[in-house]
This record gives sequence, structure tokens and C-alpha cells, in this order.
Amino acid sequence: MKEKSQDQKIVRMKPLIAANWKMNKDIAESKEFVNRLLKLVDNSSEIVLFASFTSLYILRTMLEHSRIKLGGQNMHSEEKGTYTGEVSASMLKDAGCEYVILGHSERRQYFHETDETINKKIKVALKNKLMPIVCVGETLEQRENSETESVVKNQLEKCLKGVKIKNVVIAYEPIWAIGTGKTATPEQAEEVHKFIKGMYKTRIIYGGSMKPENAKELLSMPDIDGGLVGGASLDAKSFAEICND
Ligand code: 13P
Repeated sequence: MKEKSQDQKIVRMKPLIAANWKMNKDIAESKEFVNRLLKLVDNSSEIVLFASFTSLYILRTMLEHSRIKLGGQNMHSEEKGTYTGEVSASMLKDAGCEYVILGHSERRQYFHETDETINKKIKVALKNKLMPIVCVGETLEQRENSETESVVKNQLEKCLKGVKIKNVVIAYEPIWAIGTGKTATPEQAEEVHKFIKGMYKTRIIYGGSMKPENAKELLSMPDIDGGLVGGASLDAKSFAEICND
């Protein structure tokens, strides 16, 4: 997404760099990470930490006077009720979150989440003033069969049905690049981001083995507006390097 400066030149917004810790870091580890991160990061990115549910509240107090924001890694599609073990949108808000990741491929794969459920969750998140980061992406087989664009388009159309796009971030996360060390090349990622931008005018971030060694190049592409970082976000130094790029 671009905004215009006073002299009408198109300038880029700061990248959005998000740490998805997945099922890692207890409270002590989360606090240690944040203490280190606060000393290391400069002002060049917008930063969101997707910590575990149990660490969110304590991080909220630690981050109160910083620019770093918090998000939940998932939430339930109902607002409250008899859903043992689930977390609602308003609970995330209450714990200090401004964002929520929805539709991550690990949730689709291990917890059988469908585009329809994700659509419902996006609407509930927006109702509760949480900014959803909606994840889409193809498998290696789909890429090899030249189905990337149709898969991504289909996921987005179903997930975003009836949704106002303005308050949604899209994350393009090719499944074959997640946790594999195999990053999409900047050109491969840019091609899909450009395709998505043609349909949805919003921020689109890239996820899949992003690390300090490849972040700068990926983030320099015109339609890559940030990163959703898994493995490399677990270490404050490497995450800060990505944020400071
Ligand atoms: P990795 O950075 O470990 O590949 O994970 C990406 C991801 O799933 C972020 O949501």
C-alpha cells in the first residue's frame, strides 16, 4: 500500500513485520525476548508479536509505552459460549491484542479449518476491532501444476466474502516455503503479491522462511509490504535485523 507525500511522489508505508512464534516461548522466554528486542529495534518497521496466549497479558504491560503491537495466533468464530479450550476475539482484545492471524496453513492442515470458518472468524475479529492477518498460499504440488493463482484467488474470495478489505492484511505464505528453509524468490513472491493487489487494495505481507539474509531483497519488491516471520522471529537479534532492514 502506498501513500502520497506532500510533493505528491508515491512513497511506501513502513513495512509490517510480524513475529509468529507458533507454539514456542513460555512467559519467562517471552519477557526475555521483549527486553532484548526493545534494545535492538529502530523505527523503520511496524512490528507485531504473535505470542502464545499465556504470554500476551504480561507482554501488554511491557510494551505499553512502545510502538510494538500484539496479536493472537488464532481465535474462535463464536463470540462466547460452551467451547471448552477456545479463546474469543474479545478475550484477545482484553489481553492487549490489536491483531489476529487467521487461516494459517498449520490451522488449516492440523485443525481442519475451512475458508468458510475463516470467513466467519474474520467478521467476528473485525466486529471486535481486531485487524486480521489472513493467510493464503499454495502447496508445492499446486505450484508445479501452475495452480498458484487460482488457489490463492479461490481462498481469498471465500475467506473475504462480505468483508470490508480496508481493515484486513493478507499474508501470502506458500506452504512449501514454511519452515522448510526454502524461500520463494523475490520474483516468485512479487508475482503472486502483484496478482493479489490486482484484486484487493490492501497490505500484503510475505511469509515462508524469511530471515535476515533474504528479508531485504524480499521487502524491496514493490508489492511486498512486510513479512510474517516464523523460525527467524524466535531470536530477538535475527528478528530485529529483519525489522531494521
Ligand atoms: P517460517 O518463517 O518458519 O518459514 O514460518 C513462516 C510462517 O508460518 C509464519 O506464519
